[in-house]
Parts: sequence; C-alpha cells; structure tokens
Amino acid sequence: MLFTREQQLKLIAAVANAPSVHNVQPARFHFTGDNIYLLEDLTRRIPCGDPMGRDTGFSLGIAAEGLRIELANQGYSLVDKGEFDSDIGFGNNIKTCRAFEITKGAGKHPLAEFVTKRYSQRGNFNKVLPRDTAAAKSLSDDNIISVTEKEDLKEIGKIYDAASLRFFRDDNFREELLSWMRLSKKHPKWSIDGLNYDAMAMSEFEAKAAGIVLSKKIFPLIDKIGLGGPITAEAGKVIGSAGVILLHRPKTESHYESGRHFYLTWLKIVANGFQAAVMASLADDIECQNLLCNKYNIGNERRIITTFRIGRSDNMAIRARLKPEDLLL
Ligand SMILES: Cc1cc2nc3c(=O)[nH]c(=O)nc-3n(C[C@H](O)[C@H](O)[C@H](O)COP(=O)(O)O)c2cc1C
Repeated sequence: MLFTREQQLKLIAAVANAPSVHNVQPARFHFTGDNIYLLEDLTRRIPCGDPMGRDTGFSLGIAAEGLRIELANQGYSLVDKGEFDSDIGFGNNIKTCRAFEITKGAGKHPLAEFVTKRYSQRGNFNKVLPRDTAAAKSLSDDNIISVTEKEDLKEIGKIYDAASLRFFRDDNFREELLSWMRLSKKHPKWSIDGLNYDAMAMSEFEAKAAGIVLSKKIFPLIDKIGLGGPITAEAGKVIGSAGVILLHRPKTESHYESGRHFYLTWLKIVANGFQAAVMASLADDIECQNLLCNKYNIGNERRIITTFRIGRSDNMAIRARLKPEDLLL
C-alpha cells in the first residue's frame, strides 16, 4: 500500500475542495496497492436538474483532476487506465467509473495553490475597474471566450434569466433543487453538502422566503402574476461582472474529460485574481447554447461546457463538505 489510511484521508480531504453540481459530491475513492478507483455514489444523482448525467460526469472529472493536483503536490503522477465498470464490491449504489495507477515523479501543479482559494461567488462582485476588464479579456484562449463588453453582458444576462425561468417553471426541478438547499442553519446537512444560504449569498430572511416562493404550490401562483421572472433574475449580477467566460470543448469529448477542463478553467480564473459563479443554464438550455455558439463563432464540432460570470471578490463562505471518511471506500 503506497499510502497509509491516514495519508489517504488527508489526500481526499484536500481533493474535496473541488466543486460539484449542487455540491452533491458524487465522487468516491478506493485505494488498493498502487491503484485508485474513482467511484460514483449513485444516490447523489439529480435526475431532474441533470437528466443526461452531464453535470455528474463533469463533477467526476473535476474530482479526478483534483486528485491529480493533490498527488502531484506530493510528487506522484496519476496514470489513467481508462473507464472501468466492473463491480468491485461496494454494493448497488456505488458504480466503478475509472481506474488509475499512481506512479512516482511529478512536479507541483501550477494551479495547485488556487484549489483552496476557489469558491462559488454568487453575490455581487466588487465594482469593475478598467484593469479588471482588461484582465478578464486576457483569459481568452483556444477553449475560452471571455466576453467583457457591457452590451454583450447585458444580452447574456437577459438570455440567462430567460433560461433560468424555463428551468424554474418545472415543478420537479424546483423540488429537487429545494431538497439540496439548506435554508436554515439548523438543517442537519448545513455544513456537509448541498447549497446552504451562506454559499448562495442569501440572508436568513431571503432563505426563508426562497423556501416558500420556490415551493410546488406557490411558485406557479407568483409566476402567474408576472413575478416569476423578477424573483429569479440575476441579470444585474451578470452586468456587474468583469466578464463572462464561455468554456467550449469538442462535442465528442466525454463529460469526464470536459469536467477536468471545467476545473482547470475555474482555477485559471482564480489564478488571475477573480472569483466566479457558474451559470450552467446557459450551456444546458439548447436555445442559449445555439445562440451563444452562433454569436461567438464557436464551431459546429464544439459545444459550450459551462459559463462563468467572473469578478473580484473576497467573501468566501465556509465550505460545506462530506467528511473524507465518507468519501474513501
Ligand atoms: C457541473 C457543475 C454545475 C454547476 N452549476 C451551477 C449553477 O448552475 N449555478 C451555481 O450557482 N453554481 C453551480 N455550480 C457550482 C456548485 O454549486 C458549487 O461548486 C458547489 O456548491 C460547491 O461550492 P464551492 O464551489 O463554493 O466549493 C456548478 C458546479 C458544477 C461542478
């Protein structure tokens, strides 16, 4: 055994800083000899928000990339031995996804120091200065389009709100989302998983109101009188961003592989002094996906994996995470 259980737990605690959709934390890990298996806890799926398993696939790729970064810090490489779906004996709710071998020899990852600095910033960003716009613009590369023009941010804010409202109008989507929201500090999973109101940049009062407004019965009534849009709108936050990042990758790429790029892009954003909030609906909503691909000349063979609004901020909320003992099987 390359690592003692204590070392494994320490490693996994560091990997757990990585993001996951709704903070469901679907990845589990099993060490055996020089090998590590990446596993998925199937009870953490979100069938309404992620019917195709795309966000879960991204989250597993993100977790693996997190593992690669932490191992590199200790001088080890993670050699991908590919998909592995044989049952290795953890029961029906645990799916084996991938096998890796750990080998000696790796330098510290250049983005490693940003793992603990990254977080979802769902509130407003600091006032955007011209140098922030310039820095945001410079993030563009072969996989990233950085949109910084005010008019473009306005348009993106508008289509983002329209897409979000389409999702919020689905009763099952809201019910599932609410089940992952922690709208009271007394919630037993407040600091363990899901989205607590601090992480969502809500006050205690707003959290209480959100629980009522998003409920199956109340939201349709509110929407009927034309308030569904205004209460879910975030365009103001998009306009107040230094930029919106469109991450695009080949259409043929696996969700797992795209997830790795998702994480590396987020860390690159942080390495450049920004924080980010994911706006997944712009990629998930087919109308928005097509509109953005057309407008920003993203080729037919590529797709937008996700979008981030970015800006300067320094209000990190305390992370809610499962204990490493729960992630290590
Ligand atoms: C695939 C994926 C999709 C996500 N979609 C959204 C989203 O649509 N809106 C949002 O506010 N956060 C989104 N997030 C961010 C997660 O909710 C966040 O990473 C998680 O709650 C952990 O919090 P942290 O990023 O502060 O560590 C997404 C993250 C991932 C990995």
